[in-house]
Amino acid sequence: MARPQITLKLATSLDGKIALKNGMSEWITSSKSREYGRKLRSKYDAILIGSNTAVLDNPQLTTRIDGENDPIRIVFDTNLRISEKSNLVLTAKKVPVWIFSNVISGNKFEELSDHGVRIIRNSSSSNINLTSAMQLLSEKGVKSLLLEGGGVLASSFLRIDAVDVIEWFRAPLILGGDSRDSISDLGLISMDFVKRFNRIQINELGEDTHETYERII
Ligand SMILES: NC(=O)c1ccc[n+]([C@@H]2O[C@H](COP(=O)([O-])OP(=O)(O)OC[C@H]3O[C@@H](n4cnc5c(N)ncnc54)[C@H](OP(=O)(O)O)[C@@H]3O)[C@@H](O)[C@H]2O)c1
Repeated sequence: MARPQITLKLATSLDGKIALKNGMSEWITSSKSREYGRKLRSKYDAILIGSNTAVLDNPQLTTRIDGENDPIRIVFDTNLRISEKSNLVLTAKKVPVWIFSNVISGNKFEELSDHGVRIIRNSSSSNINLTSAMQLLSEKGVKSLLLEGGGVLASSFLRIDAVDVIEWFRAPLILGGDSRDSISDLGLISMDFVKRFNRIQINELGEDTHETYERII
C-alpha cells in the first residue's frame, strides 16, 4: 500500500496508560516532554488523531514555536462528532484541518466546511478505511504522518504493521488497569505475530524517559 512514513507518539504512565477511565489525561508527562513533543510535530507533514481524542481532549495539535511549520491536522471521525467549537475547527483557516468521515452533507458538514475544515469522504460504510486514507494522503503529498492517539487509532495501524517508528515519552507514575490503554486490542493469538521493535535511542527528559523504536521488518 502506498502510504506516508508513520510514527506513533506515545505519552504514557509506567504501565502504558494514556488517560484515566473518565478520559482525563492532563497531564501525564512532564512539561519538558510535552515541549519536546510539540517540536516533534514540526518534522511531520501531518498529524492524525482518532475521534475520541478530538472530542475528549479538544487538542490544538500545533507546535506553538515561532518559525516552525504546523503540520496538517487530520481526524478520523466516522460520524462527525467533533464539536464545531473545538480548537481544531476554530483554527482551520490558519492551519489546515482534514476530517475523514462518512458524513458528507447536512448542517454539521456545512458548518465545519464554513470554518475551513476539509471533509473527505470515507471509502467504506463503517470506520475509516486505513488503506484508502493512507493512499489518498500519499497522493496529496503527505510523506510523513505522526499518530497522536488514542489507543484505538494506534492499534488500527499496528494491526496492519503500518507503524515504522515509535516515540515513547514515559512518566514515572501509574494509572492502573481501569485506565485507558495506549494501545488497545490487537487480537493476537500467537507469539509469532507480536509486533517487534528495536530501541534506537533512549534519553531523559526531566523525570520522564524518552525512547525511540524502529519496527523490525
Ligand atoms: N496521553 C496522551 O498523550 C494522549 C494522547 C491522545 C489521546 N489520549 C487519550 O486517549 C483517549 C482516547 O483514546 P481512544 O483509544 O478512546 O480513542 P481514539 O483512538 O482517540 O479514537 C478512536 C475512534 O476513532 C474513530 N475511528 C474511525 N476510523 C478509525 C480507524 N480506522 N481506526 C481507529 N479509529 C478510528 C472511531 O470512532 P468513530 O466511530 O466515532 O469514528 C474510534 O472509536 C482520551 O481519553 C484521550 O485523553 C491521551
